[in-house]
Amino acid sequence: MKILVVGGGGREHAIIKSLKKNPEAETIFALPGNGGIARDAACVPIKATDIDKVTAFAKENAIDYAVVAPDDPLVLGLVDRLEELGIPCFGPRKNAAIIEGSKVFSKNLMKKYGIPTAKYEVFTDAAEALSYVESCPLPTVVKADGLALGKGVLICMNREEARSAVRSIMMDHQFGKSGDQIVIEEFLEGPEVSVLSFTDGETVVPMISSMDHKRAGDHDTGLNTGGMGTIAPNPYYTEKVAKRCMDEIFLPTIRAMKAEGRTFKGCLYFGLMITKDGPKVIEYNCRFGDPETQVVLPLLESDLLTVMQAVTNGTLADTEVRFSNKHAACVIMASKGYPVHYEKGFEMDIPEALSDRVYIAGAKLSEGRLLTDGGRVLGVTEVADSLPEAIEKAYDDVKKISFENAYFRTDIGARALQAVKGA
Ligand code: AMP
Ligand code: GLY
Repeated sequence: MKILVVGGGGREHAIIKSLKKNPEAETIFALPGNGGIARDAACVPIKATDIDKVTAFAKENAIDYAVVAPDDPLVLGLVDRLEELGIPCFGPRKNAAIIEGSKVFSKNLMKKYGIPTAKYEVFTDAAEALSYVESCPLPTVVKADGLALGKGVLICMNREEARSAVRSIMMDHQFGKSGDQIVIEEFLEGPEVSVLSFTDGETVVPMISSMDHKRAGDHDTGLNTGGMGTIAPNPYYTEKVAKRCMDEIFLPTIRAMKAEGRTFKGCLYFGLMITKDGPKVIEYNCRFGDPETQVVLPLLESDLLTVMQAVTNGTLADTEVRFSNKHAACVIMASKGYPVHYEKGFEMDIPEALSDRVYIAGAKLSEGRLLTDGGRVLGVTEVADSLPEAIEKAYDDVKKISFENAYFRTDIGARALQAVKGA
């Protein structure tokens, strides 16, 4: 089989490594992939968002199956275009990807179908939003409607911060058209849990739960990033919470999307907060999370390609999706200064013995040398019988990898360990 994986980060590297376990996956192309992924797939320098070029490549190369991993090509309708050519795909169509592409859409969906989430108001007019923040409860959360590279959410502790959030999104157009509408919502408190799920539109199968570490600095300080590390399973996601999530959130969401004529097929990511009133949805993503995927897929015991094809064919109910009962920890090594300003182009030294545990996010090949080429450079994942062991092993690996200006958090998993101790 010739498989196309669209995207080029650590998540895509993890997906490709899992797909490769199936001997039927003879050829895997990554568009664009990266210098590290090039060890595991044929990388072709076509941008994931260049829908015309990706589609032409898929046609010319007689691709048998495509996996579209990042949010932007999904929201732009790449799956629809590939399906028009008769290429089966893993990933939602454009009309379902809107669940991530528009926060106004997803909030209205949750309201209409009674799915628990933060209370909210929608604004298309800056003056009205500014007037609202003069009297809304604090803290408050201001969100740009559309995709904003994970930066369109501003937590505002006081009115001045709320005013300036509204101004920068709606008046200064910090996120372009993504900020034409905004959501202002209630601030929720509680531990966060990420649950990725496979769904064919009828059946939803949650994967093992995980915990992201979004802030750049130790002890959740500093700016929000794409994610500095993950652990799985998430100790806050107890059996009781899981049952409530299935009944109150997962199934109702899948059914709501179907009822709206927007059947969702692919990986639906539930970003949840476990509040004192129960689990609530913070956000939906229409794709695998990054770096959640780097701890979830190493724990998947079933064959990924088989499960993905079941999602595409609508036969997920008859397909086994089994996870190991071990623990995984992933530490992201980034370039110093990420997520703001950082230098790239430093040679990376990764011992060969670690290569099956390392997922490369930002690197390029130059005359046979692997050089850093992004904010998040790589992730190292270890799987072990216990969480402390997995964390310790992952940090041992980090010590063996070097590149100039390397930066990583030193407390990945610490909060989860606290939760286990406190239980
Ligand atoms: P998002 O991009 O929607 O995942 O938001 C980024 C982060 O902002 C989330 O992971 C939460 O930590 C935080 N956040 C988003 N919405 C809320 C909310 N209503 N209350 C508290 N924190 C929030
Ligand atoms: N790690 C969060 C995300 O993928 O959006």
